[in-house]
Amino acid sequence: MKHHIIGAELFVEEEGQGAPIILLHGFPLDHRMWASQVQALAPYYRVITPDLRGMGQSDVPATNISIDTYADDILTLMDKMGIQKAALGGFSMGGYVAFALLRKAPSRFTSLILANTRPEADGQEARRNRMNMAVSLYDKGAAAAKDAMLPKLLTEQTRQDQPGLVDSLSLVMESMAAEGLVHASLAMAFREDSVDLLSTISVPTLVIAGEHDAVAPPDVMNKMADQISDASFHVIPGAAHLTPMENPAAFNTLLLEFLKNATA
Ligand code: MLT
Repeated sequence: MKHHIIGAELFVEEEGQGAPIILLHGFPLDHRMWASQVQALAPYYRVITPDLRGMGQSDVPATNISIDTYADDILTLMDKMGIQKAALGGFSMGGYVAFALLRKAPSRFTSLILANTRPEADGQEARRNRMNMAVSLYDKGAAAAKDAMLPKLLTEQTRQDQPGLVDSLSLVMESMAAEGLVHASLAMAFREDSVDLLSTISVPTLVIAGEHDAVAPPDVMNKMADQISDASFHVIPGAAHLTPMENPAAFNTLLLEFLKNATA
């Protein structure tokens, strides 16, 4: 079922019944990146995949926003959907939102999945790149983000072997509202550092990296996992940044096994 949550101004896909799990997408993507995970999890769980504000089919904000705004939206969404507690997963930018949620409302999350994400705030150069990206988005539209991200999302081998995946991913990225992506770029540029948060995370945590991910490299993610008391760390071989789509079979095996134990 797909619907708008009025009051949160968010578009959400919801499938299945059981313990709720909320999966937060990355940049410049939307809930469609989780299609394989929704299919794998929906027989056992209530799987909720929102479009973050300004992305996918969710409303584009009229004024500037921060990562905390996305997190507040998710808390409003949980209230509107009658969800007191949920498992929480974040991919990359979705992971930054997950950190903000754990800062704001740790008691509402029963377990955590961190995929291809990192806890450090941006340095000077990364901020500058994001501001340049915001300008390119203004000038060229969503294609600017697609052109910059596509080579990072999938390995060259995957791009050669799976032209269908490249095409569908390109369509998703090109369908974004450029202004929504401008907001996301600037929100990421000035996001809070979450390194100190890691030692406060007490829920079972699954950390998934891609062997060839240059955005959130495995060694950075391994270090992150080391600082979370109940975390397990896994690397998906042969994958770059977008592990949930590049190797959904490996990703889903890890996810199902983790959730089975975490929700037992
Ligand atoms: C993402 O995949 O969400 C972005 O690559 C995150 C980032 O640029 O930091």
